[in-house]
Amino acid sequence: MSWMVATFGSSGRNDAPGRQVAAMDIGSTKVVAAVAELEGQNRLRVVATGTAPCNGVRKGSVVDIEETAQAILAAIRSCEQMIDSKILSVVMGITGDHISGTRSTGLIPITPPGRQIQPGDVERVINHSRTMPVESDRQLLHAVPISFKVNGQAGVHDPVGMNGERLEVVSFLVTGNKSQILNLERCAERAQLRIDDIVLQIIATAEAVSTPTDRQASCAVIDIGGYSTDVGVFREGGIVSMGLVPIGAAFITSDLAYLIKTPAEEAEELKKRYGCAIASTVGEKETVPVKRIGEDKPRAMLRRVFCEIIEARAQEILELSRKVIEKSVPVEELSAGVILTGGGAKLPGMDALAARVFGGVPIRVAGPMPLAGLGDVISDLEHSSIVGLLHHARRLASKRVQKPEQRGFLGKLKDLFGDAGEEEIS
Ligand SMILES: Nc1ncnc2c1ncn2[C@@H]1O[C@H](COP(=O)(O)OP(=O)(O)OP(=O)(O)O)[C@@H](O)[C@H]1O
Ligand SMILES: [Mg+2]
Repeated sequence: MSWMVATFGSSGRNDAPGRQVAAMDIGSTKVVAAVAELEGQNRLRVVATGTAPCNGVRKGSVVDIEETAQAILAAIRSCEQMIDSKILSVVMGITGDHISGTRSTGLIPITPPGRQIQPGDVERVINHSRTMPVESDRQLLHAVPISFKVNGQAGVHDPVGMNGERLEVVSFLVTGNKSQILNLERCAERAQLRIDDIVLQIIATAEAVSTPTDRQASCAVIDIGGYSTDVGVFREGGIVSMGLVPIGAAFITSDLAYLIKTPAEEAEELKKRYGCAIASTVGEKETVPVKRIGEDKPRAMLRRVFCEIIEARAQEILELSRKVIEKSVPVEELSAGVILTGGGAKLPGMDALAARVFGGVPIRVAGPMPLAGLGDVISDLEHSSIVGLLHHARRLASKRVQKPEQRGFLGKLKDLFGDAGEEEIS
């Protein structure tokens, strides 16, 4: 896979390659595209956004290439109109039940023994950890270093400058199913787009909603989308595990539609207007006007009963997310807590319900840290992924601008760690 900056057509205002980046989030309910200008080292100014509804993706896998390609095209065209220039390539997020993460180790001797470890040694040992055999139907997406050992001494964050004979690394390797990745590439191709890079979406989302301090201390990010929920666990600055819960907020809507016998669009509207994740907090006498299928006039339904339907599914989403987290880390060890994001986290009471499901672990609902320019258009909880992807695109862009030898060790590690030690961006 190529590693390039998003590039733009030569007409219009955007013919200065490397100064703008484009990203795309292909969700199970919508496609979002965004273009941002690079300002200085770390800042992004959003200059265009585009959103199109999309039903072509389920549990992170493309189930309808044509529909997805059309949605991509619509979102991209909308951006192109705003910047009066053609977008040729994007950074794309990937998720799905076909993605898996495993730990891998790498080991290299330092020669002559005892000399100082150089950035090149770190790169070599990370590359060695990548050489784990991957099945023929899978593709390696990322190798994120978690920790190093020098001469058998564990817990080293930055081995450069240390003296040693032997350097080891534990990396987190992310792989995906080749044909699923190919399907994404096909969708992009049909929309006449090149893919600069494919990024594990939860890594990008986490970058938008958590701070480097959260990720260093250990936290979990739960992105509650439409038809699935992405979960990532972060420790010592990097991802340590991830998983996908195959249900999301759209299931709440379909439960409501089924149980109160109302069309899905009506159920969605009612959910957004009257929904609450903890039914007992709703007034006993409050009602919801429900228009049932085949009826013209709405009938009053007790809001508490309405919210009990919601609560049951919301609780299931959170309990399954907890199970995913606990495969790698007991939740009590998440000292920076659990961060809820994604459109599903907009449901009032979701934080209180999560507090119940996760015991005494700190819970917060967070959207992306706002960006300049049109950043307010993509500042909602459902925009965490696209903002995180823009940050990833920014890093790729600065990597391209600076020659590798000028970037130094920290810069190289940031490409892999995802800004583990970088300042927060405002
Ligand atoms: N105010 C709200 N209250 C409750 N739910 C909401 C609200 N706003 C949006 N949602 C729900 O959020 C879901 C969409 O979230 P989001 O946009 O994050 O999903 P997506 O990125 O398209 O999907 P995925 O991440 O699963 O691929 C929908 O099911 C929608 O009903
Ligand atoms: Mg999403």
